[in-house]
Formats: sequence, structure tokens, C-alpha cells
Amino acid sequence: MALYRAKPKDGIAWVTGASTGIGRALALDLAREGYQVAVTARTEEKLVSLSEEAEGLPGRIIPFPGDVADEKAMAGIVDAIETSAGPIVLAVFNAGKYFQTRGERLNAENFVRTYEINLFGVINGIVPTVERMRERGHGHVAIVASVSGYFGWPSTAAYGASKAALNNMAESLKYDLDKMNIRIQVINPGFIDTPLTEKNAFPMPALMKVDDAARRMLKGLKSGGFEVTFPHRFTWFLKLLRVCPQPLRFWFVNKATGWGRRPVPAGRKPRN
Ligand SMILES: NC(=O)c1ccc[n+]([C@@H]2O[C@H](COP(=O)([O-])OP(=O)(O)OC[C@H]3O[C@@H](n4cnc5c(N)ncnc54)[C@H](OP(=O)(O)O)[C@@H]3O)[C@@H](O)[C@H]2O)c1
Repeated sequence: MALYRAKPKDGIAWVTGASTGIGRALALDLAREGYQVAVTARTEEKLVSLSEEAEGLPGRIIPFPGDVADEKAMAGIVDAIETSAGPIVLAVFNAGKYFQTRGERLNAENFVRTYEINLFGVINGIVPTVERMRERGHGHVAIVASVSGYFGWPSTAAYGASKAALNNMAESLKYDLDKMNIRIQVINPGFIDTPLTEKNAFPMPALMKVDDAARRMLKGLKSGGFEVTFPHRFTWFLKLLRVCPQPLRFWFVNKATGWGRRPVPAGRKPRN
């Protein structure tokens, strides 16, 4: 039997992190495809204006505001979507945040907040969603990670590790979810022009427009392959770099980013 692939006539698509950026553009594309789309983020007004923007499209966009880091709230949202709109057949766990993490200014809070949103934010959604999909005997879930999970980059110790964890989690879950007729995919974008990247002060190779990224995501969801990644000219190069010996990778990343030449600010003298 072919593994389930979501279709608009089967039920609801749910997108987290849909108030801005990739999630917002994807929600609109899904509504254009005819899906009724449940959208979640913390900023309710932006979800309401997204819903208004979708008026006239084949599918509606319905706001379900909430914080993905709140386990109870996420279980409540899954319940509310299914009660008021219908069964979730496609869940795209996209909410995420980048906190710059530099070795000379390490603080635990950056790591905690990153994992609360990027990792537990997905876990808090996937647990109640998969439970319901399992009862129905089919479902389709996609986790938005990042190519920064392929290997370590300067200043991404918390973000990159959270995205590496999502890649591993998706791969591990696939063994069981396949048997439950639940398709799982991991989406690893390169640099996309969104509020998340607009504060980056460094050059971003192959930076992609958000609408193009959403289109590539939709195409990937439809084709159903385990990993969806884009733009290929950048992400396939990173895949190659991933299999290089580590000394070569450290040398390349230092050279390409100029990181090796940056002075580390002097630390405070230890107090006696
Ligand atoms: N842009 C890139 O280059 C790039 C590359 C690879 C991967 N990604 C990943 O793609 C995903 C979307 O990123 P983006 O670039 O579109 O960034 P974005 O424009 O900053 O969007 C992030 C979304 O996540 C939501 N969010 C953040 N914290 C949340 C929380 N605690 N609870 C609920 N929602 C929350 C935000 O809404 P509220 O603030 O309203 O809650 C917003 O809707 C992220 O997982 C990101 O890591 C992005």
C-alpha cells in the first residue's frame, strides 16, 4: 500500500509559525491549493490579517493563536482545530527562532529558549497530532529544520543543534510512522529572505525569496520525499561539505566566512 499523502479533500492543513515569513507564505499557497488551513503563532492580529488576505482563495485560513513552547496550549489547539474545523491531515511544524550564540558570550538562556521553541515546539505539536492520525490510520507531517543542522557553523551552536536534533528525530520517527501510514518529511531550507534572516549582517549565499521558498515547500510536500531542501545549488554543496573530513570543513568555513580572522573580544579578568 502506498504511504498516505495529504489532499485538500481529506481534511485540514495546520501550519505553525504562520504569522510571518515562510509559514505565512506556505499557508497562502495551501489555501490556493484548496486546503482549509489552521494557522498558529503568538501574534493573533497577524493571523487574523492573514485570514483576511486569504478571502477569495479556494481554501480558508483559520487562526488558532498560541505559543508552541506551551505543551498544554498546543494539545488544546489540536483539539480545537479538530473539533471546530475537521481532522488534521497535514501538519507543518514550522515555528522557529534564531538566537545568535557566540563562544565569547555564552549564556544558557539562549540554548533553553532555542530548544523550547525549535525542538519542544515541534514535540508539543507532533505528539497530540500523531496520536489522532494514528487513530484514523493515516496522516502527513512535515518538520521545518534547516541546513544549519547538517554541521556546526560559527554563532549557531544553539540553533544548529536544535535543527540537527529535528533531522535526527524525523529520521528516527520515520521507521514507526511509515508502518502507521503517516508520512513524515523534514524540510531543510538554505537562506530565505524573512524577518528571521533580515538582521543577519553577513552575506547569505543563494538567498531565496520567501514566495519561491513556499512554492518549493509545497512542491516537496506534494512529491512526498523524506527530505525537502532548497535552493539546490547551495544545499547540495553543503551536503558535499558535510561528508568532507572535519579539518577540511573547519578550514573551509573559517575561510569562507572570514571567521578565522575575527578577533575574539578580550574577556573580563577573573575576580579574586
Ligand atoms: N529564513 C531562513 O533562512 C530559514 C532557513 C532555514 C530554516 N528556517 C526555518 O524556517 C522556519 C520559519 O522561519 P522564517 O524564516 O519564516 O522566520 P520568521 O519570519 O521569523 O517566522 C517565524 C514564525 O515562528 C513563529 N514563532 C516564533 N516563536 C513562536 C512561539 N514560541 N510560538 C508560536 N509561534 C512562534 C513566529 O510568530 P510569532 O512571533 O507571532 O509567534 C513566526 O510566525 C523556522 O523554523 C526557521 O528556523 C528559516
